Amino acid sequence: MFAVTAARIVADDPLAGLELGERPEPVPPDGWTTVTVKAASLNHHDVWTLRGVGISADRLPIVLGCDAAGLDPEGNEVVVHAVISDPAWTGDETIDPRRSLLSERYDGTFAQRVAVPRRNLVPKPAALSFAEAACLPTAYLTAYRMLFDRAGLQPGATVLVQGAGGGVATALILLGRAAGYRVWATSRSEAKRDRALALGADQAFPSGTRLPERVDAVMETVGEATWAHSLRALKPGGTIVISGATSGPMPPADLSRVFFLQLSVVGSTMGTRDQLGRLLRFCEQTGLRPLIDRTLPLDQARDGLAAMMAGELFGKVVLTA
Ligand SMILES: NC(=O)c1ccc[n+]([C@@H]2O[C@H](COP(=O)([O-])OP(=O)(O)OC[C@H]3O[C@@H](n4cnc5c(N)ncnc54)[C@H](OP(=O)(O)O)[C@@H]3O)[C@@H](O)[C@H]2O)c1
Repeated sequence: MFAVTAARIVADDPLAGLELGERPEPVPPDGWTTVTVKAASLNHHDVWTLRGVGISADRLPIVLGCDAAGLDPEGNEVVVHAVISDPAWTGDETIDPRRSLLSERYDGTFAQRVAVPRRNLVPKPAALSFAEAACLPTAYLTAYRMLFDRAGLQPGATVLVQGAGGGVATALILLGRAAGYRVWATSRSEAKRDRALALGADQAFPSGTRLPERVDAVMETVGEATWAHSLRALKPGGTIVISGATSGPMPPADLSRVFFLQLSVVGSTMGTRDQLGRLLRFCEQTGLRPLIDRTLPLDQARDGLAAMMAGELFGKVVLTA
């Protein structure tokens, strides 16, 4: 079958380790099944894998991709939950110390077929296309958990989303807006700030700008480049929820501000299978649809990854198999 594979780790030239071509058919072990992939979507995770972040060379070659929607062997339309927990684990899969994401230990979704644990399949609502559904399991699920589980917010609260153009950031704007939050966004690019407003953000600011007032919570995925601003933006008692650090993971912590203003710094990773089910229902109920920047055939995955690395995207890149 055709697949998009991380064949080598080249930290400073990630696309040099990418291979497109034939790979063996997946062989599902007991309790697993094979999904025929109709659509998959890119995440920054795929770039990290090619850079060797979160994976060691002995796992390669490995098929990239966390997210997919497709057909199970009975022809049912399904969405794949990307968090693979230990078979003995029960409860919140995101805190299983043995968990992995698809494409970390097991081949991922950028292929015509992918093997996944049967319990990781969630029915796809008919109202969502395969392309839309394929955007949800990583970026949108992460945004859902950040906003609705980890932030402790109530509707009407003001939320700042850093780095408006990213897959998680556009998801945060759409979900926050649909849930009745006042959503503010930052971006380095004027064009992306305009698009954030069109998407439903109440106001959009250049990255690092002083805000008109302090916010209840900040949603962080950018890291070093925006961290100091995130801390300055919070009301006393406010919360930063952080799920990524695209620009680097080691900003100055500014501990005095954290304790003096009694700020909460809350980590968040992916979401549970149940949360993915609720996210799908949230989309059905509210009419929310993921924002897709572009749709490419699987054999053009390199172009999508290059656009992501250049920070050119506004929304998700979908690959169709
Ligand atoms: N923990 C989890 O479960 C989880 C799940 C999903 C994603 N993540 C992480 O979250 C991060 C975002 O993921 P994504 O897929 O949304 O990535 P993405 O689409 O590549 O988004 C990154 C965004 O960050 C902003 N940015 C990047 N470098 C910047 C810089 N130097 N200064 C200011 N802003 C910068 C850009 O926004 P502007 O151009 O608009 O300024 C860009 O659109 C990644 O690090 C990813 O690994 C984690």
